[in-house]
Amino acid sequence: MILINDLGAHSKVLRPVIDDAIARVLSRGWFVLGPEVTAFEGEFARYVGVAKCVSLANGTDALELALRAVGVSAGDTVATVANAGMYTTTALIAINAKPFFMDVDAESCVVTLAECERAIAAGVKAVVVTHLYGRAAPELKAIVELCSARGVPLVEDCAQAHGAKIDGNMVGSFGDIACFSFYPTKNLGALGDGGAVATNNASLADTVARLRQYGWSAKYEVTLGHASNSRLDEIQAAILRGFLPLLDGWNERRRKIAKLYATLISHPNIKLPEYNAEEYVGHLYVIQTENPAALREHLKAKDIASEVHYPIPDYRQPVFKNVYADISLANTEALAKSILTLPCYPELTDEQVLQIAEAVNSWQA
Ligand SMILES: Cc1ncc(COP(=O)(O)O)c(C=O)c1O
Repeated sequence: MILINDLGAHSKVLRPVIDDAIARVLSRGWFVLGPEVTAFEGEFARYVGVAKCVSLANGTDALELALRAVGVSAGDTVATVANAGMYTTTALIAINAKPFFMDVDAESCVVTLAECERAIAAGVKAVVVTHLYGRAAPELKAIVELCSARGVPLVEDCAQAHGAKIDGNMVGSFGDIACFSFYPTKNLGALGDGGAVATNNASLADTVARLRQYGWSAKYEVTLGHASNSRLDEIQAAILRGFLPLLDGWNERRRKIAKLYATLISHPNIKLPEYNAEEYVGHLYVIQTENPAALREHLKAKDIASEVHYPIPDYRQPVFKNVYADISLANTEALAKSILTLPCYPELTDEQVLQIAEAVNSWQA
């Protein structure tokens, strides 16, 4: 069986790095907010090219705390896409703020400048740009200019795009604040949950650092409301420190797999993703076809896993009942019915990629 992710293979190769990280933490006996967290935050900030990183328990908390830090509170409206797995919308629900759903580009699957303009004209308090599938939003620089000209904070969601660049600068260094997830399947993944914000703004970093620990300014002194307990464990930080130097190599391998797919897959009913190499780190390789369910069955019969990222637009999620019944975003809805994710991760071998491509090519649509 070819899996959609193979974390067993991943951690097997990395066993010496993992053992070393865990041993270091165990022998020190310091498990929460200690030297590994501090060191990882410095190393990750340097990697992204920003002044500050504040590590957190997961990427959804990163979105919530970043949004709170830029001033979003109950009753505010925030712009987000609806095709990115509901994570930003979940953070907004936690704040009791409302999503303003933006459509995405039919090719790149990420938000456009025009949609950010529409959201800002509608009076949103902040804009979230999601670098979906490992692809930096192609219009990011224009979106940064738009948001700063209008005084609207820009939050980047980089949970799927660690290491993607635009003009040599990493995603996460463009907006007012950026959010990362270190969920195990991410390009940089821990062995459990993890997340972080990255920013050049020391005051935003300080606010998030307080929000992640009960709103404390100092031990047992609470100066911020609506705070959480959202800390990254020392063990996960130590493991992430071991993995970070390997990230660029992993991203290169993901890109190579995507390139192999592009040369090997040829099917009249399948559209392959098009991207600029620097801007894409191969988090997910998402193809489009009219009947993805049938292709999925065909691949399954050949022992090849695939997945749909994501099948339900946020505004159609059952939790909302009919609240967003009047919203309909053409590209978001068309994509939800046509996308399929093929396996793309560093441990996948060239032979497996060939096997998958041949299976795709043999599909009678
Ligand atoms: C685009 C995006 N944003 C946010 C998140 C949330 O991260 P986490 O699962 O660590 O809460 C994820 C991943 O799950 C994601 O893919």
